[in-house]
Amino acid sequence: MHLDKKILMGLAKKYGTPLYVYNGDLIVKRYRELYDFIDFPSLKILYAMKANFNFHILSLLERENAFLDTVSPAEVLMAFKAGYTPDRILYTANNMTDEEMYFVKELGVLFNIDSRTRLERYGKAFPGDEVCLRFNPDVMAGFHEKVMTGGAITKFGILPGDLDGVLEIVKRYDLTVVGLHEHTGSGLYDENKVYESMKNLLSIASPGNFPSLRFIDFGGGFAVPYRPDDTKINYEKFGNNLKAIFKEYCSEYGRDLELYFEPGKYIVAESGYLLMEANTVKDNRGRLIVGTNSGFPQLIRPTFYGAYHQVVNLTNPLGDSQTYDVCGNICETGDVFAKQRELPEVREGDLLAIQNAGAYCYSMGGVYNLRAMPAEVFCFEGKAELSRRRLSNNELVENILRECK
Ligand code: LLP
Repeated sequence: MHLDKKILMGLAKKYGTPLYVYNGDLIVKRYRELYDFIDFPSLKILYAMKANFNFHILSLLERENAFLDTVSPAEVLMAFKAGYTPDRILYTANNMTDEEMYFVKELGVLFNIDSRTRLERYGKAFPGDEVCLRFNPDVMAGFHEKVMTGGAITKFGILPGDLDGVLEIVKRYDLTVVGLHEHTGSGLYDENKVYESMKNLLSIASPGNFPSLRFIDFGGGFAVPYRPDDTKINYEKFGNNLKAIFKEYCSEYGRDLELYFEPGKYIVAESGYLLMEANTVKDNRGRLIVGTNSGFPQLIRPTFYGAYHQVVNLTNPLGDSQTYDVCGNICETGDVFAKQRELPEVREGDLLAIQNAGAYCYSMGGVYNLRAMPAEVFCFEGKAELSRRRLSNNELVENILRECK
């Protein structure tokens, strides 16, 4: 574990559970190592803030001079609060309304447009402007069908076959295409699929089609290990291969372009723990059930994707191993964090830690069953501070009633 068990136990005691804890030092390490792996002079890493919009994490990466991939007006506003300027933000909303388009345009960020009809509306509204275009890479990859963003099953991007129509709109509204974008999926374990996506996008990125490009953005999706036996991709080799593909393309294009990637998971997934207390242990005709004081609205990945997250019994690490279903406190049968998992004996009162809770856990959360989201603690350079507190039950109810007025 990258944070000491004693520290986690101390934080659980101080702030109560359920509790999210993030390790800022690991986030910085992961962010910086991407620049080592993909050692390309004009590389820009745009953190996909949808993975975790915790304010301390955003500010930490701001101090690292990171750029951002954003997907909603409020994400852009939040980014500004954390000190990012518009020139460090790309806006990649999906299925946006005209109202959203006008609002975000006022904020001064570059739009990454992902449909022909939106490009048409954008061109009409802002002729002569600069844009980035999102294409479907025509490759299906990712750790789960729900997060594959290429190929025919997906709602994302412009199909490469629609290129002529797109170029016609660009010309009609005198738009300057400064960037091209694709995102293949999340949790890309097969490196060859990434190379294939890159090549598919680059095959249409000629100076004849797009003479004014400044950058190519190949999205996010870098995989991280979740299971104990998952091996990490050899990122050095992977980075070298990415670089080689891009270098070759730049020489064909006739000048060096900027190379963008937009990882979320890679930067923050491993940094987070969700701490929870086991409060009920049940023997259901031989099936052992552990009930905890969290639930799927607070960490939805196992329920939503069948995703695997390691569970650690912090307070009884040497207990005899038993097989458990680790469940939450929500009134749904699918409220299970881990099915048939071997753990050191779990007793009522034990403190459990769910690993890899830094990406798409807090940020995908909600208040189903009217239970407030856990507080978040941010650890950095030997200090731990409360980053966001948990609403009390009364505050949660009052907030909802306030919205009704
Ligand atoms: N860029 C775009 C356009 C994206 O749609 C995404 C993720 C990313 C970058 C960042 O992908 P990452 O590097 O984090 O894999 N909720 C899912 C992941 C789906 C994210 C959707 N888009 C999960 O919990 O695994």
